[in-house]
Order: sequence, then C-alpha cells, then structure tokens
Amino acid sequence: MIEERTDIEMLETKPEQTVAIRTDDHDGHRDPSRRSFLRWFLGIGSVSVAGVLSVPLIRFALDPLMRTTTQTDWSDLGPASDFAEVNVPQKRTISITQMDGWRKVVMEKSIYVVKGNDGVLSVFTATCPHLGCSVKWVDTNNQFKCPCHNGAFSPEGKLISGPPPRDLDTLESRLVDGHLQIRYQSFRQLVKTKEVLA
Ligand code: FES
Repeated sequence: MIEERTDIEMLETKPEQTVAIRTDDHDGHRDPSRRSFLRWFLGIGSVSVAGVLSVPLIRFALDPLMRTTTQTDWSDLGPASDFAEVNVPQKRTISITQMDGWRKVVMEKSIYVVKGNDGVLSVFTATCPHLGCSVKWVDTNNQFKCPCHNGAFSPEGKLISGPPPRDLDTLESRLVDGHLQIRYQSFRQLVKTKEVLA
C-alpha cells in the first residue's frame, strides 16, 4: 500500500514529463511506422532504378550466350578440278571455328565430296543422323557404313538400311574462282527431317 501511493505522487509531481510524451505522439516526425514506410519506399525505389539501369549491362554480358553457335565461315576444299576424275566419295577433314558462349572453339570435322552421275559435286557431313557416329565409305560394299549400329547409305547419301532416320546431310557448297567451298553445319539427330541446330 505504501509503494502504490508513492508512484501516484511521482506522476503528479512531474507533469512536464507526461506532457512531453503526448507531444511526441502528435508530432508525425517521430512516428516509427511512418519512418519504416519511408525507408521501405526509398529501398524499393533504389532497387527499381538499379534494375532498370542494369538491364543493358546484363544484355551486353549475356549476348555471346544468346548468339547462334552453328554459323561458320566458308571452308575452302581446294580446286574443284581435283575432284573431276574421282569416281568414289572423297573424304576431307576441315577445321571450323565456332563461338561457344565466350569461348572460341576450333574443331576438326570430316566431310565427303561426291561426284554425281551428272558430274555435279555434292558434299555430305560424315556425321550419322542417328546418334552422331562418323560414317565411312566402304569400297567393297559401295556404301557408306556407320560402325555404331550398321546404318548403310548409298554413294549419293540415301539411307539404305539401319536405324538412321534420314539420308546423310548435305552441306551448302559453292564454287569461287574454281575452288570448291563449303559451309559446315550441325544437324539435329534422331529426327526424320534435316534440321539445322541453332
Ligand atoms: S549412330 Fe549411325 S547407325 Fe547409329
């Protein structure tokens, strides 16, 4: 009982302390919830502005990853006259350079040059359209043979037998100053229709 009476007296004898507390409540500058809201609002604004400004930088950094990687330059196979007298498919190995993200990759690829009955040259990739093994020309069979699952193709690259879903893939070719040039590309495997990989 004695202690309760003492507390009441303290409040009554220090009225200025009570007034000061009430003043803070009515003055909006010291409202903690408003300050939190302002901090949150400024934070969201800063993040949004930083996000908008960073988009061009991110696009610039990721650009190599978004580019097509299968586009290659033309490869020179030498004078077309070198193939004029041959009657069986001629194998050649070419070096191609591709961009894989930020890396420059140089690869060796095998191709076959075939002279048709009309004397026109065609070029095939040696990559089997089944699962990507390298086909080989076999003189004794007069066929291209795939060693992996016995796929067989005619001298013109037509599918004869085995699991490959389509003929051998022809490559784009052209004659420049009497030289045979080709553009190497990779194609999707296991599909019936020839489809350039992008
Ligand atoms: S990879 Fe050529 S037949 Fe399967």
